[in-house]
Amino acid sequence: KSGMFTYDPGFLSTASTKSAITFIDGDKGILLYRGYPIEQLATQCDFMEVCYLLLNGELPSDEQKKQFVHAIKSHTMLHEQLVRFYSGFRRDAHPMAVMVGVVGALSAFYHEAMDISDAVHREQSAFRLIAKLPTIAAMAYKYNIGQPFIYPRNDLSYAANFLHMMFATPAEHYEPNPVFVKALDRILILHADHEQNASTSTVRLAGSSGANPFACISAGIACLWGPAHGGANEACLNMLEEIGDTSRITEYIKRAKDKNDPFRLMGFGHRVYKNFDPRAKLMRETCHEVLDEMGLHNNRLFKLALELEKIALEDDYFITKKLYPNVDFYSGIIQRALGIPTSMFTAIFAMARTVGWVAQWNEMIADPDQKIGRPRQLYTGVTQRDVPSKETDK
Ligand code: SDX
Repeated sequence: KSGMFTYDPGFLSTASTKSAITFIDGDKGILLYRGYPIEQLATQCDFMEVCYLLLNGELPSDEQKKQFVHAIKSHTMLHEQLVRFYSGFRRDAHPMAVMVGVVGALSAFYHEAMDISDAVHREQSAFRLIAKLPTIAAMAYKYNIGQPFIYPRNDLSYAANFLHMMFATPAEHYEPNPVFVKALDRILILHADHEQNASTSTVRLAGSSGANPFACISAGIACLWGPAHGGANEACLNMLEEIGDTSRITEYIKRAKDKNDPFRLMGFGHRVYKNFDPRAKLMRETCHEVLDEMGLHNNRLFKLALELEKIALEDDYFITKKLYPNVDFYSGIIQRALGIPTSMFTAIFAMARTVGWVAQWNEMIADPDQKIGRPRQLYTGVTQRDVPSKETDK
């Protein structure tokens, strides 16, 4: 037994991490943040409330939310020296490459964050990371397109501020579309945490050595970038563009099933979910809402994705291997509809997941039994042998 859940002994012997933050039942398609179902959080709360919940274990009162939002907003700007850091990158640098660099470089600005034993410093680092990731991500986009950086506006909500920093310019007045703001806020909630996935495990392993939180989150961003993980949303949209038309779906399903073909159906399958990823269902509903609101219900990519999902879920290969759409399958279509470029999809995933990484890092640091991570190996090399002696004068 672990808390309120009982696990079979076999599972307990393989589980390496204890956590009270997020619970997943992959067979039943259940996802809980601190006990609350993702379906309720995504439709009844906003991202700031979910951030407070993940960090503190309870949803905030009105007063607690007001103070939390104020604390986050007081850290949204970037040190001007870091703003100059961007000029060292090529203009065509991938936003994730920039984010790995700039987030890691925060360690060079907040020396007190090195002292992870101090609770106040840990809290400041948490606020700085949650507050600055949108600014850092939006600046990476502006740098790519050669437009001036847009500074944060603390009169806007978290999601609205991000859209403003992405799309406002000094030359034009820009007000974020409320439908887009709500859709982005929901995308952030759906990506906020997900138990011990690869990038969260990376953050925990880096943190177990006592490394500062900025360096650990930078490591998490690096891991998330991979196409098998957070990079799948960008890869999925590129895949849908490549398929192009419903008439070509069976050709790609055939390729996905061919063991000799490295092609995999992006946005399908999961290490844990062997049923529908509950986030994928919510993402599909959000897609419908945004596209209907924009009068784009005949959106080509969305219709293609729906048909692809239908055909795949009727195919024996996907049924027997329990491959269902995951969080990345529809998220790219919504982001494309919001005008967000494909190159920024994973950056937004990283921005959302930062609160989950920080909550998991805090939990690990607070664990008195925590030791440095040291995964064991099965040695498969040669047995011990001696270096051949060098022949002296021949
Ligand atoms: C995320 O862990 C998390 O929680 C991650 C995440 C989070 O929120 O942090 O949920 C976010 O990373 C979601 C996953 C995004 N990735 C993709 O969509 C990329 C495409 N999917 C895969 O590459 C794959 O499904 C993985 C990497 C996600 C999981 O790979 P596994 O561990 O090999 O999956 P599996 O063991 O369930 O696979 C069973 C079989 C295997 O074939 P066999 O060895 O039995 O012959 O199904 C095959 C796999 O090769 N398979 C696929 C497939 N996914 C698995 N075949 C075709 N297309 C696919 N997408």
